[in-house]
Amino acid sequence: MDAREMKIKAAAAALEFVEDGMRLGIGTGSTAEEFVRLLAEKVAGGFKVEGVPTSERTARLCLELGVPLKSLDELPELDLTIDGADEVDSALRLVKGGGGALLREKIVAWASTRMVVIADETKLVPTLGKFPLPIEVNPFGLGATRLAVEKAAGRLGLAGEIRLRQSGDGVFVTDGGHYILDASFGLIPDAEALSGALHAIPGVVEHGLFIDIADVAVIAGTAGVRVIEA
Ligand code: 5RP
Repeated sequence: MDAREMKIKAAAAALEFVEDGMRLGIGTGSTAEEFVRLLAEKVAGGFKVEGVPTSERTARLCLELGVPLKSLDELPELDLTIDGADEVDSALRLVKGGGGALLREKIVAWASTRMVVIADETKLVPTLGKFPLPIEVNPFGLGATRLAVEKAAGRLGLAGEIRLRQSGDGVFVTDGGHYILDASFGLIPDAEALSGALHAIPGVVEHGLFIDIADVAVIAGTAGVRVIEA
């Protein structure tokens, strides 16, 4: 099974959690997009959902495929969010933000009664941190914020390169108009402590550690699909 097939398997299994009439948070990334494609087929067959997209990219795909959308202001309480992840540990702590949508993803997941994460088995890790941690920051005072992040991580015994994310035409800008620092700290033994330390920095808008947010992980691998519950 190749990587795309695994993503489709995870997305298909997650579709089982979706009930007719649900208000759905819809994630961002290649795995979430497989979910959108399958959801669109169900919608075309008469299934009713209202989706709140976590990025402009996801919104475009949903509109193209006919998945009905609302804003989070129109639907401030959601039944379920389905989203991908860059890393998942056994306690369902996540690293997200590889696709640059972590702020909206966290806001939407937080507004949801349940969050189901979909991923292929390469995303399952014993300890978070192999994937560089995305940290969304305000462009104002970027240098000061980067230094503050470095110092906060250092106090927790973490160090490594912190890179300003680039896109094809310059600095990557999120849907919210912010920048992303990708922090290669290596393994993060205390994700809760790092989360708290980053939240204390005024220039940090949000970070990609999702702790106590995911309820279920649907992990597809060569041997089949595994469902892990929090
Ligand atoms: C976007 C995300 C994505 O969910 C994450 O990057 C996983 O993406 P993919 O399914 O393409 O591997 O957090 O901000």
